[in-house]
Amino acid sequence: MHGVLDMSTASDELVWFDGSVMPLSQARIGLEDRGFNFADGVYEVVRFYRGRAFTLREHLERLERSAHEIFLHLPISLEHLADEIRKLISLSHIEEGMVYLQLTRGQSKRQHPFPEAVKPTLFFFCRPVAPAWAPGEGEGCSIISVEDERWHRCYIKSIALLPNVLAKNKAISAGHDEAVFIHEGKVMECSASNIFCIRDGVIYSSPVGPKVLPGITRLVLMRIAERLGISFREEALPLEEALASDEVFITSTTRELSWVRQWDGQTIGDGKCGPITRQLHEAYLEEVEDEIGSVVAA
Ligand SMILES: Cc1ncc(COP(=O)(O)O)c(C=O)c1O
Repeated sequence: MHGVLDMSTASDELVWFDGSVMPLSQARIGLEDRGFNFADGVYEVVRFYRGRAFTLREHLERLERSAHEIFLHLPISLEHLADEIRKLISLSHIEEGMVYLQLTRGQSKRQHPFPEAVKPTLFFFCRPVAPAWAPGEGEGCSIISVEDERWHRCYIKSIALLPNVLAKNKAISAGHDEAVFIHEGKVMECSASNIFCIRDGVIYSSPVGPKVLPGITRLVLMRIAERLGISFREEALPLEEALASDEVFITSTTRELSWVRQWDGQTIGDGKCGPITRQLHEAYLEEVEDEIGSVVAA
């Protein structure tokens, strides 16, 4: 099983909130925070393994780019933020988990124009994550296609996720795991993951941009594919071609790689995890080991 464990009963969760560490249950954000009123903010999810953050620099750089795209400035430097995140991971005493971080434009009288001199709201907390399936294991995912109703700036990791939430729930309520957004007949990404199709030994993934988030797991995989000499094409496949793939998998920070067994009711390949997906997942875990092994624990 993968996914965020239910910690709703945990009373000792900590949050870093505007510079202070406090119990999550005691942190308060005003009703007129623009994140709450307008979804005027961005976020990140960082995985840590054995208490050490993986690809923290890449995630914080994406955070900075997302913030820049909506004219929002990080109230602290990336170096300072990275240090504070490492400290909170250590204080949390969680070994396998994720950091959820959110930055909003802050609290001011509700009105559309950007307020002057408002302090952005920044917080992050740690949650345990159940380990993803080992390479090739598990039942594989069942995914369904949905029309892409999102805006055209999906390269921003925005907290405005209602179309993603609706798509995910459509999939779950019909007994599937993920929803795949289809834009003009072509495969973009999933509600909370990137998607990859393998045909004749070539990996296809839609280019990042208006309809695709630059996933950090995707970025790591591109590096791995290059190192292993596996062709990687940034090309959006028409749905019918994608459904005829030999292998399909989806990626995210918390799920790593999940192989797809079924898509729109059709079995992918022979209904098992394909050899390239397995090889890529194994290489991904080696990459994790290499990076966290070289990091000094906070
Ligand atoms: C819409 C969407 N695409 C892709 C991803 C994968 O991104 P990452 O690998 O950085 O977690 C996510 C992760 O939450 C997502 O929400």
